[in-house]
Amino acid sequence: MQDRVPRPEDLEPIERASIDELRALQLERLRWSLRHAYDNVAPYRKMFDERQVHPDDLRELGDLARFPFTDKAVLRGNYPFGMFAVPREQVSRVHASSGTTGQPTVVGYTKDDLKTWARLMARSIRASGGRPGDRVHVAYGYGLFTGGLGAHYGAEELGCTVIPVSGGMTERQVRLIRDFEPEIIMVTPSYMLAIVDEMERQGVDPRATSLQVGIFGAEPWTQDLRTEIEGRLDMHALDIYGLSEVMGPGVANECIETKDGLHIWEDHFYPEIIDPVTGEVLPDGKIGELVFTSLTKQAMPVVRYRTRDLTRLLPGTARPMRRIEKITGRSDDMIILRGVNVFPTQIEELILRTPALAPHFQCVLSRDGRLDALTVKVERRTGTNPEGAEAAGHDLATAIKNNIGISVRVEVIEPDGVERSMGKMRRIVDLRRS
Ligand code: DLL
Repeated sequence: MQDRVPRPEDLEPIERASIDELRALQLERLRWSLRHAYDNVAPYRKMFDERQVHPDDLRELGDLARFPFTDKAVLRGNYPFGMFAVPREQVSRVHASSGTTGQPTVVGYTKDDLKTWARLMARSIRASGGRPGDRVHVAYGYGLFTGGLGAHYGAEELGCTVIPVSGGMTERQVRLIRDFEPEIIMVTPSYMLAIVDEMERQGVDPRATSLQVGIFGAEPWTQDLRTEIEGRLDMHALDIYGLSEVMGPGVANECIETKDGLHIWEDHFYPEIIDPVTGEVLPDGKIGELVFTSLTKQAMPVVRYRTRDLTRLLPGTARPMRRIEKITGRSDDMIILRGVNVFPTQIEELILRTPALAPHFQCVLSRDGRLDALTVKVERRTGTNPEGAEAAGHDLATAIKNNIGISVRVEVIEPDGVERSMGKMRRIVDLRRS
């Protein structure tokens, strides 16, 4: 794999600042952001007043704990534009997150917000090993989803040549990679796997393509999947995190020099980890729900937005900003099976340690009499024989029992048996109420 560590002089000054400088900047920006939300967004004013807190009560960063949380329900309740802090005419663009249930949540950006987003995405691509002049193949979906356009403007901002492919048409993805020879690909990790399979089907050696760096996010993925992708493609695999409500992709990103979790761009987003049940703020190092307060957003500031994502905060390494550990999953994606909590990422890890199985899988929940049952549908790896794969299925069930503590049915199916997603993969199929 190529050495792609950025030179220190290529980093922004804040990426080399001291913790004290960073905290001082955060406090100043947080004061502005709370005041901006209170003065210009009626729902925030109401929530602050009900809690009897005022932006002036923020004297130090820890005082943020006194302010109310925001969540998807607050955003939905003010659909579509009720959370905007500027007149609608000053909103240059809107995006929306589809949401699995009901109403989408709408987010808005001023011209300055779009500039900030492009700069933070450029910073993320640089942290991943991208450089001006690189060709960037964007296979995140374009449209209301923030992945495609977010990656697009960030790559342009860094000075790259953007190839705006969007998701889908997997054969064409492979053809464009062969013809245009991009150094970088930005795509969901599950769709990257579909693209690699397609390369192999076409007789293209994935290790011999021009790709040097993959920037993968929008869904949880594991260290084992990093090893799989880096091995099969001979390229660096980096994790990018973000969510529409807070901005889109580029809230946090791994650094290629360490690949040890994602640095939060703390000069723009203030993170907290809370106990998801009590709402109490937890100290760094403890696992809980990630909460963000925006520090510079104009069109749609967010105050203590509950992401539902579970992780913990760790000290900075390659940058002064704190890191989040790779996200285990969303609290909504946690399967509780006979009292044991399970995330699809835990199953992914065990599948990747079983060589005869491919990392294409789904967790199907059903009702077995009065008990919930989990069936893991997983594909056998192309090239393995069906009998061997059957035995691997038994091994996987045993590994799940031994490592996670639950009994599941494993159904090994033929390659291509699990529906491919062109964007976020749906890992859980819940048949219990249908
Ligand atoms: O998924 C933004 C994005 C696009 C991020 C492209 C990275 C790359 P939403 O559609 O609003 O926005 O979904 C946000 O996706 O709360 C997480 O649950 C999940 N997610 C995003 N990135 C990661 C990641 C985009 N790296 C939701 N690891 C978030 C795990 C992720 N989960």
